[in-house]
Amino acid sequence: MKMRSTLGSTWFVLTVGAIAIFATACGKETARTTVTSEADSIAQALAADSTALALAERGRDAYLASCAMCHGAYGEGNGPMASQVATQGKPPAALNDPILLDRVGREELIKIITMGGARSHLSNLMPSWGEKIPAETIEQIADYVMVLPRLKPGITTVKIDEYLQAPPGAAADGRKLFVFYCTMCHGPEAKGDGILADSLWARHQVRPRNLTDTAYFTPKTDQEIYMTVSLGGDYTAHSELMPGWDVKLSPAEVKDLVSYVRAVSKTESRP
Ligand code: HEC
Ligand code: HEC
Repeated sequence: MKMRSTLGSTWFVLTVGAIAIFATACGKETARTTVTSEADSIAQALAADSTALALAERGRDAYLASCAMCHGAYGEGNGPMASQVATQGKPPAALNDPILLDRVGREELIKIITMGGARSHLSNLMPSWGEKIPAETIEQIADYVMVLPRLKPGITTVKIDEYLQAPPGAAADGRKLFVFYCTMCHGPEAKGDGILADSLWARHQVRPRNLTDTAYFTPKTDQEIYMTVSLGGDYTAHSELMPGWDVKLSPAEVKDLVSYVRAVSKTESRP
């Protein structure tokens, strides 16, 4: 879980930093030094992140030229040749899958690209590129592939299995988690009015969702709500300012939170 936990810890730094800063803005007592060092670590985390993204950009054109026809422009596994390749055996892998990339890692990725599928215990429909693309470019392609989940995140089948396998949630347990992790944005009664809500609006024109909104939550499925809470808003076409919790919370705990959202919104569970 290297990739997700890196993202998760960035979020943690951001969230803790945000609390420190906003708490001060609200007139609560927080030592100035704490705020300064939190602000520094936020700046460092952001700088490190944008350096990684900028570096990865170098591999994009080579990826588009050699990989996108099978793996798709954002690694969704849906390039123009994908269905044809699939009829001959295995479909091209979805490379925007953070769990797959975590399992494979950058070094192994370079090996697979260089040697191809047949010599990496994968399908021989994955070509080898070692003789066609310079080693340096292959490394750049690997850097680009490593950030695909952040360019256009997808919900993976692993994630859906995890959801299906977790036991049903309990709203009372969800309430306890909610108080601890969610009230700062969503407010003590889940109405979207936590202590960070005004700052989010002032800086980003985004409000934490009012979770008691019956009309809004009635048509949503449990799986949709689960994915937003687990992976964060950026995976489900919501604001990225809704953090993902799968690093901190187990699938069963996220289901407890979904049940809690059902209870406060007075809506029925929809599988
Ligand atoms: C002709 C189609 C095709 C092209 C072009 C192609 N691939 Fe693949 N690729 C595949 C197929 C099919 C698989 C699935 C192999 C398997 O699962 O056995 C695969 C698998 C992979 C995997 C392994 C994923 C895993 O499950 O471990 C990686 C990584 C990968 N490709 C990266 C690339 C990169 C990077 C490029 C461009 C340099 C590229 N591929 C070009 C068809 C292609
Ligand atoms: C840093 C602030 C923040 C925290 C902490 C936070 N949220 Fe959110 N949440 C948001 C924002 C902002 C949105 C609105 C996203 C949008 O509308 O695009 C949101 C939206 C949601 C939604 C609505 C999703 C939808 O389908 O529209 C749910 C459900 C939710 N949050 C649950 C939670 C739960 C459960 C927790 C605690 C585990 C939590 N949130 C913690 C900021 C936060």
